[in-house]
Amino acid sequence: MKKILITGATGYIGRRLCEKLLSRQDLALRLLVRNRRKLGAGDAGRLEVIEGDTFSPEPLARAVAGIDTAFYLIHSMGAGNYQELDRQSAENFRDACIRAGVKKIIYLGGLGSKETASRHLLSRIETGEVLSERPEIRTIWFRAGVIIGSGSASFEIIRNLVEKLPVMVTPIWVKTRTQPIAVNDVLAYLTAAIDLELRENLVVDIGAAAMDFRGMMLGAAQEMGLRRLLIPVPVLSPRLSSYWLILFTQVPYRIAAALVEGLKSETVALNKNALRYFPEILPRAYPIAVREALSEMEHQQVISRWCDSSADRYCDVLALDDPGDAILQDRRIVPLRGIDPHAVFRAACDIGGEQGWYTYHFLWRLRGFFDKLVGGYGLSRGRRAAPELRIGDALDFWKVADIRPGKRLLLTAQMKLPGKAWLEFDIQADQLVQTAHFSPRGLWGRVYWYLVSPFHSLVFADLARQIVARASLAEKAG
Ligand SMILES: NC(=O)c1ccc[n+]([C@@H]2O[C@H](COP(=O)([O-])OP(=O)(O)OC[C@H]3O[C@@H](n4cnc5c(N)ncnc54)[C@H](OP(=O)(O)O)[C@@H]3O)[C@@H](O)[C@H]2O)c1
Repeated sequence: MKKILITGATGYIGRRLCEKLLSRQDLALRLLVRNRRKLGAGDAGRLEVIEGDTFSPEPLARAVAGIDTAFYLIHSMGAGNYQELDRQSAENFRDACIRAGVKKIIYLGGLGSKETASRHLLSRIETGEVLSERPEIRTIWFRAGVIIGSGSASFEIIRNLVEKLPVMVTPIWVKTRTQPIAVNDVLAYLTAAIDLELRENLVVDIGAAAMDFRGMMLGAAQEMGLRRLLIPVPVLSPRLSSYWLILFTQVPYRIAAALVEGLKSETVALNKNALRYFPEILPRAYPIAVREALSEMEHQQVISRWCDSSADRYCDVLALDDPGDAILQDRRIVPLRGIDPHAVFRAACDIGGEQGWYTYHFLWRLRGFFDKLVGGYGLSRGRRAAPELRIGDALDFWKVADIRPGKRLLLTAQMKLPGKAWLEFDIQADQLVQTAHFSPRGLWGRVYWYLVSPFHSLVFADLARQIVARASLAEKAG
């Protein structure tokens, strides 16, 4: 049985790859994750999981020990010094693999050439070079452009723009050619690479037919049954285009800017190795990829999203499951009066996204608007289209920090704040205890808390009541 290591298994690609490889009986899977609780109980029971990161030598050495093929699906794009972090991370990983006698590293990076690459793409190229530069180990380096799949950043941008804007004045770069690829085709290549025996390193450029961003938007509109008009003008600067994207889509500035920067130059396949080494894989056409992504969303089957990962040096929900150091609280207690606590838990877990926050929608939206204005996520991330929440799920400007079925939901705030904040729902046998915790940073943190307190007394009091009321309604409806 081949022993496979997947890193980045809580990220967009890694999570889906993990799910796909679980169906193969000839593989033994091991994951290296920064926070095992993000995997969810189901997965954690079926896999060997090692908690650690590429900067921690001991867990890294345990993760690679006895492994045949190691997937490198890591990056830390959100951190300020991501280029340095990503280079160091790749070096640590490669050296650990060599010491452990790993035969092959499989890496997924971005399509494009060094000469015209954006800062983000350059870092992805550098990672590939670091992983492939030592003769002791073989590397298969896949390079993909825009990935089309439910929850992928590029697809969310396309979908949001097309859905919200019937007429678009677009920058000239919408005519730059790229080769989009369906996420399921990316997974097919990654999986097939496990069985490819190699004597030398390989770079494999993957993608379906080349098209421009304009074609992608019009194609998506067609699949969504919408008619859209795009008018390209030469005066929209990359910065303006990025602001435009954060206004109308879910992504924050750093992702919008990276995408716009990346689309300034052509990203098409520079080699034919996909066809040569993987002739059995024929990437599906763009409209089919869009249809599949939309269908996954409609059927609430989104396995992973672009905002699942922390995009930072550390896992963003690790050690945040206890608001112990918060010194300020807003607590609301609502008696259940015989309502099943599980129904109350379900109602608490339903908040956010399209459902909204049950009450004072205007105030929630206003808070989200101010957050976006200062560079935060606002409410635009919504929530993953899936029946249940899991640790690490984004919920508008919150993230799930802890979840104990039927008992507790703890959200940690990712809005721009002068301190750390949590929203906790503690469901007891006869009452719901809802607490907003705040750990202020300096004097401004305290001033902020008292300034927003009048709004809290409206919003939080009603939120707790609404959750119990909805649970009661759901119970009556059967
Ligand atoms: N997604 C796309 O559209 C796309 C397109 C083209 C190419 N690619 C390439 O595909 C690869 C994977 O991308 P992705 O979108 O799946 O990334 P992602 O969603 O941002 O996930 C990154 C993963 O890396 C983990 N991680 C970060 N630093 C780590 C460290 N030092 N040690 C261990 N784990 C660490 C994160 O863990 P936490 O959950 O703890 O944060 C997360 O699981 C990248 O090389 C990317 O360039 C992606």
